Amino acid sequence: MSVRILVYDDYAKMSAAAARHVASRVNARPGVVLGLATGSTPVGMYAELIELHRREGLDFSRVTTFNLDEYCGLDADDPRSYDRFMWEHLFAHVNLERTRTHVPYGAARDPEAECIRYEEMIRAAGGIDLQVLGIGMNGHIGFNEPGSASNSRTRVVRLAEQTVQVNRAKAEAEELPAFALSMGMGTIMDAREIVLLANGDAKADIIRQAIQGPVTPDVPASILQRHPDVTVFLDKPAAKLLELD
Ligand code: PGA
Repeated sequence: MSVRILVYDDYAKMSAAAARHVASRVNARPGVVLGLATGSTPVGMYAELIELHRREGLDFSRVTTFNLDEYCGLDADDPRSYDRFMWEHLFAHVNLERTRTHVPYGAARDPEAECIRYEEMIRAAGGIDLQVLGIGMNGHIGFNEPGSASNSRTRVVRLAEQTVQVNRAKAEAEELPAFALSMGMGTIMDAREIVLLANGDAKADIIRQAIQGPVTPDVPASILQRHPDVTVFLDKPAAKLLELD
């Protein structure tokens, strides 16, 4: 089993440790290609990365980023878009080159073509060195909902009803698209290294299933057990159902 599990007292400590981990990869390889996630979980980590940039000069000038997913039909400047989320929580506050940040273009006229273009851009950048992931309540990674094929690539997906409900509440949005463009399971598994973050009681059961349950398409994150280099950053509540030695 190649999944390393790191448990921290609280969300703040978990976020700081995950940020240090990402920063170490940026320092070791200034042109590193990062895969990034949205959602509430990585917000603290992004805030810490901004602090490291300000206090310690963590340099993003040669870093390339690819986000996991975006809602279909939303323009980049839509307040609900993940593009906007990334600008608010990270991109605007560090010295990333705009041209090296990538989020699938949700308002693309031809979403299928956009997905192919996205995969090509990842390939042209040399592939993803470090992919950051959150985990959905149903075990999704990116927007790969239960049932997603393990070899899937960036594509248009339909969101699970539960995902739309949960995300609508989080975004305080009345309406959210039910479709998204998402990196596939295969795209994620191609990353050389993966960091998964989860915090809070509500994630404890799905974390147990994903890390210590059977590998099954019913729990998309369980496929990570087959990846050679995964580190899971948890707070105590999210780790409470794990068997740890
Ligand atoms: P969350 O979302 O970080 O807001 O819990 C995670 C996800 O749905 O992948």
